[in-house]
Amino acid sequence: MLSGVMNVIYHVVMTMSAPTLLILYGSQTGTAQDTAERIGRQAQRRRMQVRVEALDIYNVANLISETLVVFVCSTTGQGDPPDNMKNFWRFVFRKSLPAGSLCRLDYAVLGLGDSSYPRFNFVAKKLHKRLMQLGASVLLPVGLADDQHDLGADGVIDPWITSFWEKVLSLYPPPAGQSPIRDDEPLVSFHSDVPQQPISPSPTHPFLAKVVFNERVTKASHFQDVRHIEFDITGSSIEFTAGDVVLMRPSNTRENVEQFCQLLRLDPDLIQRTNAILNMEPVSPGSIPARLAQPCTVRCLAETFLDIAAVPRRSFFELLATFATDEREREKLAEFSSAQGQDELHSYCNRPRRTALEVLTDFPHTTAELSVDYLLDLFPEIQPRSFSIASSLQAHPNRIQILLAVVQYKTKMYLPRKGLCSSWLASLDPRLGDVFVPLWVKKGSMKFPKDPETPVVMVGPGTGVAPFRAALQERIAQGKTANVLFFGCRSQSKDFYCSAEWEEMVKAGQLTLFTAFSRDQEDKIYVQQRVKEQAVLLWDLIVNKNAYFYIAGNAKQMPTAVCDALKEGFRSQGGMSSSQADEMLVAMERAGRFQSETWS
Ligand code: 2AM
Repeated sequence: MLSGVMNVIYHVVMTMSAPTLLILYGSQTGTAQDTAERIGRQAQRRRMQVRVEALDIYNVANLISETLVVFVCSTTGQGDPPDNMKNFWRFVFRKSLPAGSLCRLDYAVLGLGDSSYPRFNFVAKKLHKRLMQLGASVLLPVGLADDQHDLGADGVIDPWITSFWEKVLSLYPPPAGQSPIRDDEPLVSFHSDVPQQPISPSPTHPFLAKVVFNERVTKASHFQDVRHIEFDITGSSIEFTAGDVVLMRPSNTRENVEQFCQLLRLDPDLIQRTNAILNMEPVSPGSIPARLAQPCTVRCLAETFLDIAAVPRRSFFELLATFATDEREREKLAEFSSAQGQDELHSYCNRPRRTALEVLTDFPHTTAELSVDYLLDLFPEIQPRSFSIASSLQAHPNRIQILLAVVQYKTKMYLPRKGLCSSWLASLDPRLGDVFVPLWVKKGSMKFPKDPETPVVMVGPGTGVAPFRAALQERIAQGKTANVLFFGCRSQSKDFYCSAEWEEMVKAGQLTLFTAFSRDQEDKIYVQQRVKEQAVLLWDLIVNKNAYFYIAGNAKQMPTAVCDALKEGFRSQGGMSSSQADEMLVAMERAGRFQSETWS
């Protein structure tokens, strides 16, 4: 009898209706956002109330009253949170937050990281610890996905999501008789702008800057097109210092937009109200992205908003599959959407860098069925690209200059792969008429010392030299002449850009320059070799003169090799053991005297 009563009570408790699931993401490149939205769609299919938001859009003060939250957070650079969770990060680590303030909260953390970088998944781990401290209860162990290995079924993400649903559904089983929404029924979705941290002009209100010049600075015979581009920012109120970055959103090419409209049988001049395109009802109210003018033409939407030239993510195939009527296409799309099909999807899409537009051409029947209502669900928004500013306002008032490597490479695809933003920028020719680019700037992570006596040592091969050009211009304008630069490129005659400027600085006693031309001789010489050769000088600068040391560039192995070279110098000059040399570099980093910024 008693056990019967217990069962009833147990049953009542267990069928408590599920709270709204809140999915908060911190995403730099869009992967965490895509994963968050994927979990959101799965929640919709389970008929749960769900909201998906970028961490900095979410009103963090409300966290105290939340009961069920998933955090999907990537880790960038040297263990930093992505730009769109920086405010949240500051808030959640405030000392004034009382220990039990999140005691109502059940949470789960899925981290996205890259094990080839230091501090793998640092953000997810640290967030988990902090939430525990604040009294929240964790539903399952933190998921630590690795960009190097994570592929569907073999990876961390899918099994983690499966465990998450097992846990949530055991706590909140769906009411009897309610079945999940089928996989082949389309769903509505959620949209939010990913904010950057603006200084005046912002992602939603960029400044239209005129392109002043756009010159190739590598020889025509050199394999790579590197551009020196200048923008006029007169009247913008934009301010920046060395180390800051400029952001801009590229547009799709005319040809791609035309092809896209043809494939979808859309009239490019058709005027759409954006709230009609956004299918918002009834499960999850979304918001219309603020920068999308409305009403707008299909051409404008396809040119400036939909990322049709990116390699599509898994959710693209999931949604596309719901439109498939052709049996063969449906099967293939279902495979690409499944956990088991992720290796296959990787070979089909990621490895050859196949674009969403190219995928659509492979699935013509399904593409022809696509409804315009789902365009914003199907394609992510074109993300802003950031570039280190390569000039100083003190040397070039009212100007922003960048050094841009135009991205182009071959894969097994017939057409060469082209970087959307760099190809678009390279194509802007101010000699043919006025050209304007919407841009804004944000604070970078690199900081340079204020004390005029403190020397800086900068290692910046290739376009990695960009922030150091800005720093040199700024420091020289301020009378700071203790500057050392290590620059590397392939050949003295082909890609040694800015060489005339460095020469002048050297002559004026404002710069000590070391160069490594990797392909001007039989054996490759890289900047790290020059760093090794200069052990005596560097030891003196760092130990006796309190120098700051910087690395920037896009070669993945380069920063580690430079650090190793530096530590070798610590050992030989300071008689240190290898662990002492490691500790010395860590101490420098803690003190802000070792900084690195790398990108790929
Ligand atoms: P490479 O292309 O001849 O290999 C700017 O791109 C310079 O950085 C080039 O000279 C390039 O040399 C060099 N580079 C490539 N990989 C590097 C690495 N791991 N460490 C240091 N420099 C590297």
